[in-house]
Amino acid sequence: MRKFALLTSGGDAPGMNAAIRSVTRSLLFYENEVIGIRRGYEGLLDEDFLPMSRSSVGGILLHGGTILKTARSPQFMCEEGINKAVENLKKYDIDGLVVIGGDGTFRGAEELHNRGVSVIGIPATIDNDIFGTDATIGFDTACNTALECISKLRDTASSHERMFIVEVMGRDSGFLALETGVACGAEYVVLPEKDFNINDLCDKVNISKLKGKTHSIVVLAEGAMSANELRDILKKNNCVYTPKVVVLGYLQRGGVPTCFDTVLASKLGVNAVTLLLADKSGLMVGIDGGKVVSMPMELARSNTKKLNKDMLTLIDILSI
Ligand code: F6P
Repeated sequence: MRKFALLTSGGDAPGMNAAIRSVTRSLLFYENEVIGIRRGYEGLLDEDFLPMSRSSVGGILLHGGTILKTARSPQFMCEEGINKAVENLKKYDIDGLVVIGGDGTFRGAEELHNRGVSVIGIPATIDNDIFGTDATIGFDTACNTALECISKLRDTASSHERMFIVEVMGRDSGFLALETGVACGAEYVVLPEKDFNINDLCDKVNISKLKGKTHSIVVLAEGAMSANELRDILKKNNCVYTPKVVVLGYLQRGGVPTCFDTVLASKLGVNAVTLLLADKSGLMVGIDGGKVVSMPMELARSNTKKLNKDMLTLIDILSI
């Protein structure tokens, strides 16, 4: 019987538990021993290990967060830390590892792979900023959470004839803002990937007001600037509205995963295990046009996923 471990690392994302369940149960299905590592790479260093059975992952499928806990571990990301992690895996006779997380998680996984550890990555982050997969686990749920919040804001924006700037997460990328912006019918989106032009934004809302629109929603990606900064710029530029600011923040990281994220996590978990059991390593599983694919984590990390600029055109056309 072989022994494999799994961990979640970096920012949590709805659907991580579904991925934990999928990896654990498929490893058990093929008669392997499974160890859950708590608190990501931090727990790998501290030997915070938990034997996993079929029932340890019972009832977690639709729970947000991660039962294994997560952390960002600066201690791990140095020569000494990585070597200690390799030692600990050897000490417990662990034959391979599945890591569930985003870019930082894969950076760590690559270091382990380069030192001979068998490791497969599953992309899970609300940011959706991983090259090589159409979607990351958690992105769809985060978009739906943002959408629900913005639809409530639209009620009050409409009643009071106000403008709202809604800041969403996404770190340095605008996937969450763009997807949410289209879905909520935003008048404008501000993204790190797009040059910001204040005249463009002011013209858009001022003209729309002249045409009879009485309120406005601007979705702002946190990576472009802060909502307060944008409000101050709008004030200085004589925007017809005095905008209200809402920062959605960590709300987007929690909640029941959507059907899409749960199914995605279930598929990616089983496929990650298939690769691990076939003695593959250094790969990330992903989804491409509905099909499960895999590619070297190094390739996924060294490429930048591009925004679909057609979505910006959609906003221009639909927000007249
Ligand atoms: O990567 C996920 C994410 O939620 C980003 O959108 C955000 O910028 C960041 O994590 C926040 O990180 P932390 O949890 O360390 O504050």
